[in-house]
Amino acid sequence: MRRVIPGLIAAVLALTSGLARADTLRMECPPSKEGRQFCSFIKQQFEAQTGHTLAFISLPPASNEKLSLFQQLFAAKDSGAIDLFQADTVWIGVLDKHLLDLTDSVADIRNDFFPTSLQNDIVNGRVKAIPAYMDAGALFYRKDLLEKYGEKPPVTWTDLTRIATRVQQGEREAGHKNFWGLVFQGKAYEGLTCNALEWVESQKGGSFIDAQGNITINNSRAAQALDMAAAWVGKIVPPGSLGYMEEESRSVFQNGDALFMRNWPYAYMLAEDRSSAIRGKVGVMPLPKSEDGTSVSTMGGWHWAISAYTKNPKAAIALLKIVSSAESQKKALALTGWAPSRTALYDDPEVLAQAPYLADFKEVFIHAKPRPATQTKRQYAQVSKAIYNATYNVLRGDSDGATAVAELQQRLERIKARGWR
Ligand code: GLC
Repeated sequence: MRRVIPGLIAAVLALTSGLARADTLRMECPPSKEGRQFCSFIKQQFEAQTGHTLAFISLPPASNEKLSLFQQLFAAKDSGAIDLFQADTVWIGVLDKHLLDLTDSVADIRNDFFPTSLQNDIVNGRVKAIPAYMDAGALFYRKDLLEKYGEKPPVTWTDLTRIATRVQQGEREAGHKNFWGLVFQGKAYEGLTCNALEWVESQKGGSFIDAQGNITINNSRAAQALDMAAAWVGKIVPPGSLGYMEEESRSVFQNGDALFMRNWPYAYMLAEDRSSAIRGKVGVMPLPKSEDGTSVSTMGGWHWAISAYTKNPKAAIALLKIVSSAESQKKALALTGWAPSRTALYDDPEVLAQAPYLADFKEVFIHAKPRPATQTKRQYAQVSKAIYNATYNVLRGDSDGATAVAELQQRLERIKARGWR
C-alpha cells in the first residue's frame, strides 16, 4: 500500500501538470536474477516519479550480437522498440546518429562521472550517452590456493603459466580432477578482442592499430603473445574455453574449478555472494605482463543511451537520471557487481566496504587501454571481427601466431582501404 499511494499521487500530478498521456517506456534489463532485482528497483522509482509505466527488454549477452540487433532495430526507426539501453564503450561512434542528443539535459550531472569515460560519450561535441559502469580487464585469483602452494600473485605471464601448471597438477593429484589453472573468454566474439589486446599490448606487440590509424599488428611480439595463449589451451586452460564468454568462465571459477580467471570486475561481487563456493577466497589484481612490458587492462564499460526514436524524450531522460543516480549505482554494485561510474562513490565508505578492490581499481579504470574504436570509426565492428577471428584460429591451432598476424595485417589493410570512415 505504501508504494501504491506515492505512485498514484505522482500519476495524478503528471496528468494534471500537462503530461497528458501515460506512456510505456522500454528499458534494457539484464536477464539474471540480480539484473531483474535492479530493474524492479528502478521501475518503482520511475513509475512513482512520472506516472508512466516501465517495461523491460532482454538482449543477447555478446556485445557484437547486441550491436547487430540495435542496428536492425534502429534502421526501422521504430519508436516503440526501446527507449533506454546500454551501449558498449566501443559503439558510441557507430550508433551516434541513432542516439538522442543529451548535451543540454545532462549538463547538471556530466561532471559527476569519470572524465575519461564521459569523454568516450561525446561525439562531435555532443553528449550522446552517460557512463553506466566502469570495466577494465582484471586477473582474479584464489588467495587460499596461492597460500597453500606458497606462491605469490603472478606479475608476469611466465609466472602465471608456471603457477597455474603447478597448482593445477597439485589439485588434480589431490583428487580435484576437473581443476584448471586459468579461464578466460575464448569464443570468437568481442570479448576475445579484449583478451587479445591485453596479451599483445602487455608484451610490447602494440594495439593492433595505433592512435593515428596505422595498422601495426604484423610484428613478432604480437605473434609470440598469441602463441603463448594458444599453448595454454588444453594444458592449463580448458579446451571448452574456446566457447566461453564472461559468464561461462565465471561459472567455472566460481564453482571452485580454476585458480586464475581473466574477467571484468563485476565477477568480484558475485564471487563474494553468500551462495558462492569461493566466498572470501578471491583476490583481484591487474593482469600480468612480459618481463619488459607493462600490465594492460582493456577498457570496457557500458553507457546509458536513449534511442533517438523514443516517443517520449522527456520521460526517457527522467529514467536516465534515475538509473544513473548515486543511489542506483550503489544498488547496481551490490546486486550485479557493476563498478560505479560516479567518481565520488570511490570515496564512499559503504561502497569501499562492499567492494574493497575498488580503492585500487580507480587507477586501473583511468589507465585502461581502449580498443581501436575511435580511430576506425564506423568500421570498428569489422575490425574487431577480423581480430577475434584471427585470434580464435590461433587458439584452435588452425594457424600460428606469425601467420595469423601477417594475414590479419592484410585483412585490416583491406578493411581500411582508402582510410577509416
Ligand atoms: C564487457 C565490457 C565491454 C566489452 C565486453 C566484451 O562487457 O564492458 O566493453 O565489449 O565485455 O565481451
